[in-house]
Amino acid sequence: MARFQTLDDADLAGKRALVRVDFNVPMEDGKVSDDTRLRAAVPTIEKLRAGGAKVILLAHFDRPKGKPVPSMSLKPIAGALAKVLGSPVAFAEDCIGPVARAAVNALEPGDVLLLENVRFHPGEEANDRKFADALAANGDLYVNDAFSAAHRAHASTEGLAHRLPAYAGEQMRLELDALDRALGHPERPLMGIVGGSKVSTKLDLLKHLVTRLDKLAIGGGMANTFLYAQGHDVGASYCEKDLAETAREIIGLAGKNNCKLFLPLDIVVAEKLAPGAAARVRDVGSVDEDERILDAGPETVERLCRAMSNSKTLIWNGPLGVFEMKPFDRGTVEAAQYAAGLVKAGKLVAVAGGGDTVAALNVAGVADDFTFVSTAGGAFLEWMEGKTLPGVAALSR
Ligand code: 3PG
Repeated sequence: MARFQTLDDADLAGKRALVRVDFNVPMEDGKVSDDTRLRAAVPTIEKLRAGGAKVILLAHFDRPKGKPVPSMSLKPIAGALAKVLGSPVAFAEDCIGPVARAAVNALEPGDVLLLENVRFHPGEEANDRKFADALAANGDLYVNDAFSAAHRAHASTEGLAHRLPAYAGEQMRLELDALDRALGHPERPLMGIVGGSKVSTKLDLLKHLVTRLDKLAIGGGMANTFLYAQGHDVGASYCEKDLAETAREIIGLAGKNNCKLFLPLDIVVAEKLAPGAAARVRDVGSVDEDERILDAGPETVERLCRAMSNSKTLIWNGPLGVFEMKPFDRGTVEAAQYAAGLVKAGKLVAVAGGGDTVAALNVAGVADDFTFVSTAGGAFLEWMEGKTLPGVAALSR
């Protein structure tokens, strides 16, 4: 794995540390509804404070497209972070210029300041030199703790690393270590579970994974496209029929790379997607015209569990069915709980992330039992696709 400077390598006393965090958190009625990403930033913030640094947090929220949008202000997040930290967090209404400068000048060692949404300036997403210089003017060192935004080559995620001594934060380090354990240097056999509804969003991912994994289970709505490509009738199910040829290509690629592919053997169907709808188990190939495939069947889940128990490492992205609605959550819940049991017994390293995977593991009640659950969505997927993340590359030495 590439080497990074970490906070253990830094002289922090009295320094202004510009820290890129990911506070792009879900909000409901102006309040943070899931503070996972705030809590993830705590170890870095506390380490910097303990070392006597002044902590200046840079973050984006939503996609304001280069201009101030009041509903996308980070201001409410300062209060939520103060609660998580148990100490005050100052807020400045701009991330550059005189407003930011005055707020930074007022800091004492150990203080924490959150600057306004970096995406209120067009220079952020353009990775503009002048904007990056203006951000850098308020720091002596740069810490990137936002793995989940590292797939963006923006001024605060990439440009700053070239202007100031740059360090990987604690959450960044955890994410990179976990992903290296899962896909870089895993203990084998290495198994993947990839679910979710659309194959079209995961083509690069599947093509890459079949060259790296020993086994790959495909579930969720995207498995329908593979079943259709194999000549099975999928009734009224969601299915990207135009990708049948690509699905066959991926099946062929898996064969060439000795990656054993697990497609559903049986599935759970219903005529409509509604809570508590009458669900039936069918073998693949016996789905009626008006039926929709909404979950993996019991035989499929049992085979997945057997495959997991014969693996040493598991990487999981995406649910096996419509986990948000009972009874179609069963396949995802049973498989996730089984994986968590293997982790607890010390038999499996299980790493999950991306999109609604964390929500699915929460429904199963096992997010805390996996070896590691990434806070990243798109960045996790791009890493799994084998792509270089600009924010990570800029930290590499
Ligand atoms: C995320 O929520 O995945 C990151 O914060 C990146 O957000 P973005 O997709 O708006 O760049």
